[in-house]
Amino acid sequence: MSKEEKITIPDILKKKKRKEKIVMLTAYDYPLARILDEVGVDIILVGDSLGMVVLGYEDTLRVTLDDMVRHTAAVSRGAKRPLIVADMPYLSFHITEEETIRNAGRLIVEGGAEAVKIEGGRKRLPMIRRLIDAEIPVMGHLGLTPQSVNVFGGYRVQGKELSRAEELISDAEALQEAGVFSIVLEGVPVEIAEIISERLTIPTIGIGAGAGCDGQVLVSYDLLGFYQDIVPKFVRRYADIYSVVREAFSRFTSDVREGSFPDDSESYHLPEEVKERLRERFGVKR
Ligand code: KIV
Repeated sequence: MSKEEKITIPDILKKKKRKEKIVMLTAYDYPLARILDEVGVDIILVGDSLGMVVLGYEDTLRVTLDDMVRHTAAVSRGAKRPLIVADMPYLSFHITEEETIRNAGRLIVEGGAEAVKIEGGRKRLPMIRRLIDAEIPVMGHLGLTPQSVNVFGGYRVQGKELSRAEELISDAEALQEAGVFSIVLEGVPVEIAEIISERLTIPTIGIGAGAGCDGQVLVSYDLLGFYQDIVPKFVRRYADIYSVVREAFSRFTSDVREGSFPDDSESYHLPEEVKERLRERFGVKR
């Protein structure tokens, strides 16, 4: 596929059949979305990790639908080729089916997303089915689902005990049966991710779930080394953007304080004749 062709859900499904790895990264704004489009990622996830890495909350639970709509719209203005998936934030898909469809609809209509992601297993099936009936494609999300942080008692790997492992495998099968087009597997042992990935015909996209998944996702601010409050074991850092930005801000601060910014090339000047007249009337110095 050429870089210009739009990636669609059928393309994502074909990738699993062809055993081509799916590349997904998060973005929350226009500039990052443009870069992700340029490098050719398959899917951009506007994750509710926004709440932690951009908005500075301790968890993702305080992210609102308005937050997600605004940031999804910025991302979809920046990226044309990748499939754009927006996270449904906490409480936006828990109350009624009607509200769930209306909320997901805003992410599609106002945000420009092409699919939504919903955390949770079988408990979420009625809402997932209604969204799919309303022509809204859904990506599932199982394992260490961050919106369940208070129930889990922290960010803990899920599925280490047999009963929880079995539960995750049946959740994945139930989500596929309900019609989701892919499932994020987060913070689960490699062996469980492999079993699920082998049993499903839809792709799995792993984050802290080992190499056996059909694709991989990371939070882009983790990969870039921009967010440093929590650094999970599964993150590979490809840059140290925090230090680059810090160094730039610190140089600007010194330049302003010592008077070396701005210089003449960074300033505007009057045309000679205007300058001359002003000099006569107001005594402009140069
Ligand atoms: O919110 C997010 O960024 C996510 C990824 C971690 C998969 O859900």
